[in-house]
Amino acid sequence: MIIAIDGPAASGKSTTAKLVGQELNFLYIDTGAMYRAMTLKAKKLNIDYEDTEKVISIIQTTDIDQIIDSSTGDTKTFLDGVDVSLEIRTPEISKGVTAVCEIKEVRENLVNIQRIMGKRKDVILDGRDIGTVVFPDADLKFFMVADVDVRAQRRFKELSEKGISSSLEDIKADIVRRDERDSSRSNSPLKPAEDAILIDTSELTISEQVEFIVNKIKNEKMRNGKNEN
Ligand code: CDP
Repeated sequence: MIIAIDGPAASGKSTTAKLVGQELNFLYIDTGAMYRAMTLKAKKLNIDYEDTEKVISIIQTTDIDQIIDSSTGDTKTFLDGVDVSLEIRTPEISKGVTAVCEIKEVRENLVNIQRIMGKRKDVILDGRDIGTVVFPDADLKFFMVADVDVRAQRRFKELSEKGISSSLEDIKADIVRRDERDSSRSNSPLKPAEDAILIDTSELTISEQVEFIVNKIKNEKMRNGKNEN
């Protein structure tokens, strides 16, 4: 099965997708982390994120992969063989990723990798364009939203726990900026697929979000007769 979760920044996609993946033994693919890894590569090579030609020139020599850490269940992101899961969460990368992910060639390359990964086993992917572009035939599509202040609070807490410092104000501004740019870009903009199920997580707990999606997946499996292993 292929499950797509799209939605704006910090709406709870990653946390939910990870837990759903653990519960149902699906591979969880964090596509945002891949765009972040590409951005980190540009940073390491001192390439300006807006310098499209230069960013395109490093695609072929950049290796991005994800694996599940069996002890924690976390999806780890590797850039050229090195675990960069924490480094890609800094405010600088959050800022730079918006430009890097708009480059057509970057998207084509990462979408290809995502489609190959999607063939490995049952998968759940989160991003902006999973249900619309990467897997338009996904078995189920969810579009997760939440009030912007709730999202900023959640991201603030998450980053603090990771030891990454930033102010609540800056986090909120970054979320608003990214959502605007992600929604208005011409290439794979952030928008719900026509057949996506909308979930507003503003007043839901994580376990409620997870349970809602798990139940939908179980029902879909039954409906399709995919419940036999
Ligand atoms: O976790 P958060 O919501 O902050 O963002 P993310 O999923 O890590 O994605 C980082 C950025 O990558 C987003 O703001 C988008 O600009 C971009 N992105 C994208 O264009 N397409 C995707 N499938 C996933 C992320």
